[in-house]
Amino acid sequence: MTSNKFILNNNALFAENISINKIAENFGTPCYVYSKSALIEAFQNFSKGFLETNHLVCFAVKSNPSLAILNLFAKLGAGFDIVSGGELARVIAAGGDPQKIVFSGVGKTAEEMRAALAADIFCFNVESASELARLNDVAKSMGKIAPVSLRVNPNVDAKTHPYISTGLKNNKFGVAYEDALDIYLQADEMSNIAIHGVDCHIGSQITELSPFLDAFDRVLTLVDALAENKIQIQHIDLGGGIGITYNNEAPPEFTAYAKAMLDKLGERDVKLVFEPGRALVGNAGLLLTKVEYIKQTETKNFAIVDAAMNDLMRPALYDAYHDIQAVNPRDEAKVNYEIVGPVCESGDFLGHDRELALHEGDLLAIMSAGAYGMSMSSNYNTRPRVAEVMVDGDQCHLIRKREQIADLFALEQCLP
Ligand code: LLP
Repeated sequence: MTSNKFILNNNALFAENISINKIAENFGTPCYVYSKSALIEAFQNFSKGFLETNHLVCFAVKSNPSLAILNLFAKLGAGFDIVSGGELARVIAAGGDPQKIVFSGVGKTAEEMRAALAADIFCFNVESASELARLNDVAKSMGKIAPVSLRVNPNVDAKTHPYISTGLKNNKFGVAYEDALDIYLQADEMSNIAIHGVDCHIGSQITELSPFLDAFDRVLTLVDALAENKIQIQHIDLGGGIGITYNNEAPPEFTAYAKAMLDKLGERDVKLVFEPGRALVGNAGLLLTKVEYIKQTETKNFAIVDAAMNDLMRPALYDAYHDIQAVNPRDEAKVNYEIVGPVCESGDFLGHDRELALHEGDLLAIMSAGAYGMSMSSNYNTRPRVAEVMVDGDQCHLIRKREQIADLFALEQCLP
C-alpha cells in the first residue's frame, strides 16, 4: 500500500503537507519525492516487534543510498547493510555508526576489506571459503581480527522474481548449507578470524512468511550444530526481503513477521540482525514526472513522460508494476495509456494499460519508487540523474541536486 503520507486533498496530490504541484514548480521534473514521516514510521514499525529482544536493524543501503535517508535512519539507531567500499564511505559520511555495519556481497576486494577492518565494522557476512581465506590474510596484515558470519544458502524458494531470489542452490550467493559446518570449523582455526554469527538472505520482495520460517529453521539447525562443536554464535542475521504492496500484494505485517521469528528463536541467547531495504523505503517515495506528449497510434495511446527507464529501471528490468496516479485527477473519461519515457528502447516503459484522463503537461506520480529507484538509476541516453527532495511536514528539502549535463562528461577527454 502506498504510504498514507501521499494523499489526495481537494483534487491535488500531497506529500505530507506539501502539494506535489508546488514541488514540481520549485524543483522541476522528473524528481524523486520522499516523505520523512513515512520513513520514520516504517523504521519504527519494523523495530517495534523486536523491542524486547536484543536486535539490530541494518538498513540495506543499496535500496536507497541517499545521505539524507541514511542520516535519518542513523539518528533512529539503525545499523547498515553494505555491499561495497562505496557504501561504507557513504554510511560514514552520513553519520552512521561503523560498529553497526554488516558487510555483505560475494565479491569483496582486499581493498574493501581493509577499509571495513580499519573502520571496525560489526561483522563481515562472508560468502565463500576463498573470501574467508582472503579476509584472514588481510586482517593478519593489519594486525586485526575480522568478525565474521558465514552467509549460508538455506536452499529455500523465496517465491519471488528469479532475478531477486537468492537463497536457492543454483544462486551465486552464500555457501551451500551442506558445506557450512566444515567452513565454520576451518574459520575457527584461522588466526585472524573471529566467528560471531550466522547469516542468510533468501531474496527480495517476498510476500509470504513461510520462506523466512523455512530459512530460519535451517539456520537454527546449523547454530545448534555449531554449538555442539563448541562454536557459540553471538548473532543471527536473517537478511532482508520483506515485500511491499505495489499493486495488490499482501506481504506479511511487520508484527506478524517479528512474532513468527521470535517464536522460532525460542530461548536461545543471541542477537537478531535484520537487513531490510525495500520494506523501509519503498512506499515512502514516489517519482514525479510530467506528460510531455500524448500520442495515439492505431492500437495504443501513449503518454510520453519526462521520466524514463534510466530514472526508474524496475519496470524495464523486472517487468515490475508501479501504481501511477495523476497529481491532479481530471473529471473526464479515462483512456487506456502506455506510460513510456523518451529513451530509445521499446523496453522504456513505466506502466502498461493504465486508465487515466491525461492532457499534455499533466503531472504523474509513479508510486512506491523509494526503493531501488534512484539507486539503480543511470545516465543512459546522457540523461542527468534527477533531483531528490524530502518532505518533512510543511517543509520540503532538496536532498540531491539535479545533475547538470556538463557533469555527465566532466571525467572524459578526447584523444590528443
Ligand atoms: N541483504 C542483502 C544481502 C541483499 O542482497 C539485499 C537485497 C537486502 C538485504 C535487502 O533486501 P530487501 O529488504 O530490500 O528486499 N533491485 C531489485 C531488488 C534487489 C535486491 C538485492 N538485494 C528490485 O528493484 O526489486
